[in-house]
Amino acid sequence: MCGIICYCGKRQAVPILINGLKRLEYRGYDSAGFAVVGDAEGEKGKSIVVKAKGRVSQLEKKKSGMEIGATFGIAHTRWATHGKPSEVNAHPQLDCKGKISVVHNGIIENYQELKRELEAKGHVFKSDTDTEVVVHLVEEYFQGNLENAVLRTVERLSGTFGIAVVHADIDHEIVIVKRGSPIIIGIGENEYFAASDSSALAPYTNRMIYLSDDEIAILTADDYHIKNLKNEDLVKKIEVLDDMELHVDKKGFEHYMLKEIFEQPESIQNAFRGRIIEGEGVSKLGGLEPVLDRIKKIKKLVIVSCGTSYYAGLLGRYIFEHLTQLDVEVEVASEFRYRRLKLNEEVMVLAISQSGETADTLAAIKEAKRKGALILGIVNAVGTAIAQITDAGVYNHAGPEIGVASTKIYTSQLVILTLMALFIGRYQSVSFMEGAEIIRAITRLPEQVREILDNAEQIKEIALKYAKYKNYLYIGRLFNFPTAMEGALKLKEISYVHAEGYAAGEMKHGPISLIDKNFPTVAIAPDDLTLDKMISNMMEIKARDGKILSVTNDNVRKVADVSDDMIIVPRTLPILQPILNVVPMQLFAYYIAREKGRDIDKPRNLAKSVTVE
Ligand code: G6P
Repeated sequence: MCGIICYCGKRQAVPILINGLKRLEYRGYDSAGFAVVGDAEGEKGKSIVVKAKGRVSQLEKKKSGMEIGATFGIAHTRWATHGKPSEVNAHPQLDCKGKISVVHNGIIENYQELKRELEAKGHVFKSDTDTEVVVHLVEEYFQGNLENAVLRTVERLSGTFGIAVVHADIDHEIVIVKRGSPIIIGIGENEYFAASDSSALAPYTNRMIYLSDDEIAILTADDYHIKNLKNEDLVKKIEVLDDMELHVDKKGFEHYMLKEIFEQPESIQNAFRGRIIEGEGVSKLGGLEPVLDRIKKIKKLVIVSCGTSYYAGLLGRYIFEHLTQLDVEVEVASEFRYRRLKLNEEVMVLAISQSGETADTLAAIKEAKRKGALILGIVNAVGTAIAQITDAGVYNHAGPEIGVASTKIYTSQLVILTLMALFIGRYQSVSFMEGAEIIRAITRLPEQVREILDNAEQIKEIALKYAKYKNYLYIGRLFNFPTAMEGALKLKEISYVHAEGYAAGEMKHGPISLIDKNFPTVAIAPDDLTLDKMISNMMEIKARDGKILSVTNDNVRKVADVSDDMIIVPRTLPILQPILNVVPMQLFAYYIAREKGRDIDKPRNLAKSVTVE
């Protein structure tokens, strides 16, 4: 959601900014813009601002034919919050004289009172954005020193922000500040960058500094400085990212989502590589070792997350209940953070997040930390805010996920949840035999996922057959109830059709009234102890002329009898079966969305990284 890219160096800035914006597109946005200062000769006092509604390609079209030689500037993709997507509301926002430009991620919560105050002082506002107050405040406080003006501005702001500011009269200086929204500084050879995430900077440098909250960075032509808000210099560690962490490339696939679905054998392997000891039937999670003594005293686990990561958490509850003696609760982060919680040092709060940036998840763990709980994380994006705030955690090491609809990270999260539960369960009642059986099954998953992917053509044919429907019900029981919800979410995210995920047993309490020949059901019906009950539910649907597509295992005659179509997946242990069952659900959603001509990697209105609450 919203993306920032800044460049300060000796090369032409605009191509770098545009390229960076393209690499940030996946975060979700609906307008874009940039501001650069000076022409080819570095003329001062002149900023060139170009903005466009819609895609970065529109912005590119608007600037084509313009000779812009400037060698520093800031750029932004905006996901509309305050004010609809339009050129006026796009960033950069400018001050009254058109000298100062600001790009901003996040939300300024007190913008209305600030706006009233600034208008009373004569500032003229042009947009509906909350961001515009920032640039007018900087203008108000500017007395020749941009950094000081930004520092004074930040004192007045409440909310979350990542902000970058340039002034047309100040050569090669970009002032950047972070509170809540992510900002990374990229260190090149005599050139400096800033961006919302590392993928935007991948072509230019692998040396990054992750700004923490309330830090300010000043990029100049030949140096950079990082300070806190008291204006004290800070020395921050430069992280060197490896190829896996930076690599963003479709590798010949039509969409990132399809590439990521097909990457699952490797991403699952990466989730358990080096983290299992087969001979002891146990998992080894180095990231949790430092807090092991505390973990052993924990009585209750609360999992907090959003979106697909929330569905991973829902399944996590079943996995932890199965393997540990902990009481387990799962909560969407946006609700958890406002509840009256009974948290203490016997409670462990586990945040699950692909991006490591999701505003609600971040706020939830800050709240839990305040109340003394142990905070753990499962995070994919290294060094991000959620990873920084946790006491301990485990990285997915799955590489960047670009498609807005999460796929490879979901299955990776499920593997890690199982490893975490086993890690704790082996200190409790899980036996060596049970542990060894789970580990053996985990190691077979990559091959089994490959088997499903080899069957993609058949899944595609089924999807094309079903693509005409406007409503879908997904049902499952126990471990596969979350799979039903995740399957339905995939479909609605990228194909824009209505799909509901339900616990099969709840079907009779409402959704069954919707069933007719035009309302198909996807039944997740593996060959486990819940199968007979699933079959009963499927019969009830058949009796009402509903079509049934089932996801099941081979040779399950009773499923075949009640299904119109079937997708067969390999067998594994019931707690791991959802990892296999969800893969055809991802492909099914993908092929329906493709048939409908949807913008699969960047579906309308959605954002990859939801940095506002
Ligand atoms: C957005 C994304 C989803 C993601 C959710 C949570 O809604 O579109 O794919 O599951 O945020 O994000 P997180 O990065 O915290 O896992």
